[in-house]
Amino acid sequence: MKHKIVEVKNVLACLELMENLQGRSSITPGIGLIHGPSGFGKTTTLCWLINQLGAMNAIYVRCYATDTPSSFLARIMEELGSEMLYPMRKSVDFIVDRMNERQLPLFIDEADHIVGQSKIMETIRDLYDATEQPVVLVGMEEIARRISHRKQLFNRVSEWVEFQPADLSDVHSFAAELLDDRITVADDLLEHIRKRSGGEVRRILTALEKIERSAIANDMDIVTLDNWGDQPLFLEFRR
Ligand SMILES: Nc1ncnc2c1ncn2[C@@H]1O[C@H](COP(=O)(O)OP(=O)(O)OP(=O)(O)O)[C@@H](O)[C@H]1O
Ligand SMILES: [Mg+2]
Repeated sequence: MKHKIVEVKNVLACLELMENLQGRSSITPGIGLIHGPSGFGKTTTLCWLINQLGAMNAIYVRCYATDTPSSFLARIMEELGSEMLYPMRKSVDFIVDRMNERQLPLFIDEADHIVGQSKIMETIRDLYDATEQPVVLVGMEEIARRISHRKQLFNRVSEWVEFQPADLSDVHSFAAELLDDRITVADDLLEHIRKRSGGEVRRILTALEKIERSAIANDMDIVTLDNWGDQPLFLEFRR
């Protein structure tokens, strides 16, 4: 399998989100929300977006279950090449200055871990209010609902993308762009993968890689649903 990011519909929707946040008028708030189930490609899309912007032109932080306001700020400081400053307010000021000077948007991945922590969420709002640079929160299904309870932050969300399951044309794009050039997966098998994966990119790629490996081992250049039969495509739990 080739290593590259396929510009499927969810990826393009996030690009549009970012363009809208960056090109918004001064009366529109600038917080974005990207949400969807695990394995749908959110983190990958974020990395791609940041590459489009130029890695030095954005701040990316991933949140952890154990995060505190201090560990969260320390990670942003590290991204900016600095040690934590105390009292914490100094670190916030430092981040605000850098975001303003360099017009840096802030991307916060795995935001589910911090959405329940008022202090961190209020700090994010402070960073936004002091810079008005785009802030994009990324998380799973629950995040939109949980943010809706934080009115002050929720009111500042002007752009959002809910990741959709891959459709057949997306699965087609993954196969066409990632598989070894010698190998074709027939449409009926692609549709089978789509159905069985529930449109989850991680599973789709696992399945394609398995098929690719088997095709190479068996010297086949096209694999159909008939060839594949009911061999497993990825680990499934059946009740
Ligand atoms: N557009 C894409 N092009 C190529 N590979 C992709 C794409 N989207 C996702 N992938 C691959 O699918 C896998 C899952 O993607 P990713 O980790 O981005 O999902 P996620 O939504 O962030 O999941 P989680 O909620 O578990 O963090 C990764 O291995 C990634 O390389
Ligand atoms: Mg992720």
